[in-house]
Amino acid sequence: MASHAPDKILIVDDNPEVAATLKLYLEDRGYSTSWADDGQTALDLMLDGNNFALVLLDISMPDLDGLTVLKQLRNSGCDAAVVMMSGHGNEEMAVECMRNGAEDYVSKPFVLSDLFQRIERARNHRQELIEKRLLEQEKENFSLMLSHDMKNPMTAVIGSIDIIREGRLGPVNEEQVEYLQSAIDSCNEVVTMIDNLLDIRRFETGKMPLNIRSCNIAEIIRKSCEPFARTAKHDGISFSINIDSSVTDLAVDSRAFGRILGNLLGNSLKFTPEDGEIEVSCSSVENTQDNLAQIPPYVSIPHSLSKSVRLTRLSVRDTGNGMPQQELGRIFDRFTQVKSRTGRENIGAGLGLAFCKWAVESFGGVIWAESMVGIGSEIIILLPDKDTHP
Ligand SMILES: Nc1ncnc2c1ncn2[C@@H]1O[C@H](COP(=O)(O)OP(=O)(O)OP(=O)(O)O)[C@@H](O)[C@H]1O
Ligand SMILES: [Mg+2]
Repeated sequence: MASHAPDKILIVDDNPEVAATLKLYLEDRGYSTSWADDGQTALDLMLDGNNFALVLLDISMPDLDGLTVLKQLRNSGCDAAVVMMSGHGNEEMAVECMRNGAEDYVSKPFVLSDLFQRIERARNHRQELIEKRLLEQEKENFSLMLSHDMKNPMTAVIGSIDIIREGRLGPVNEEQVEYLQSAIDSCNEVVTMIDNLLDIRRFETGKMPLNIRSCNIAEIIRKSCEPFARTAKHDGISFSINIDSSVTDLAVDSRAFGRILGNLLGNSLKFTPEDGEIEVSCSSVENTQDNLAQIPPYVSIPHSLSKSVRLTRLSVRDTGNGMPQQELGRIFDRFTQVKSRTGRENIGAGLGLAFCKWAVESFGGVIWAESMVGIGSEIIILLPDKDTHP
């Protein structure tokens, strides 16, 4: 009984006359067909390794009706296209079936040309879905490959350069130390890029559980700023941190929170020239209409934020080259970079801010950018109190 012909169609109908007519017409058209006269037989045939490309499934059948069969097929991960066959007055149920994964429905009595067209369309649609899923799988594999095949050797490269830089293999002069440090910085940028990509993939596939709990924000900010303050000093950029005493603990994932700051500071350092300034500020403000009104209209405000009594405002401001107004809404999209940038400014994948947006939204907050070309940029985050976390 088992067949692996890819264009095989299963007709599921308790009415032998309808089934026989369909069988005749379809086989005349070159399809190969099988018939099941009830829902259970259909499920047995479908789930027993038979490679049917499409199921013509009657809605009204005794015992197992068409909708139940459809749900079980989809739950089992069956890839065949399903076209429901509805009797007169059954259209509402047919629409319900489409919500549950059927490709289409035809009403009895059939107009044959219409039936064949719908069968072909349903098969193509299903094929597209399968191809899309395969592509997703490939992307997933690519992410894993990045993690294992690129990140680990990268970490080893950083370690080796560091040993040389520290002079453990022989004396190195000041100029050599600088070059080695710059190599380490570049490697670290690549590792951050891979981390962003992996986290966004993990988030999209539901494989990144956040560990959200009450955290001392001021402490995380100070710690996360340390390496960036060092680089800023080295690059001749003034770096300041202003944390107001009003700042309270917040419900966040501390690792993700640190990575938000890392991404924002990495950007500020990348886009701010020598003699520029970078300032990290954090304060607790009242949740007033005025404060919420600063949020640009394209940012949607979550319920957790509007009902919070106070708001924690975190911002990273720089006097870098800035961004044009029309870019400010899209820089938080994945793989988006401001056009016409060159050299070092172009380094990166355009993932840092996408990670920040995802993480901030997971904490029930909002993030946006304010900027003027040639003057500088400020990325602002508002977070809700820990008891109003979503
Ligand atoms: N402080 C800033 N000053 C000027 N432009 C900025 C600033 N922050 C972000 N941008 C612009 O927004 C773009 C997106 O930033 P994002 O952090 O998402 O990506 P990236 O830094 O290019 O790459 P990645 O973060 O993945 O290494 C940047 O390419 C840049 O054009
Ligand atoms: Mg970045």
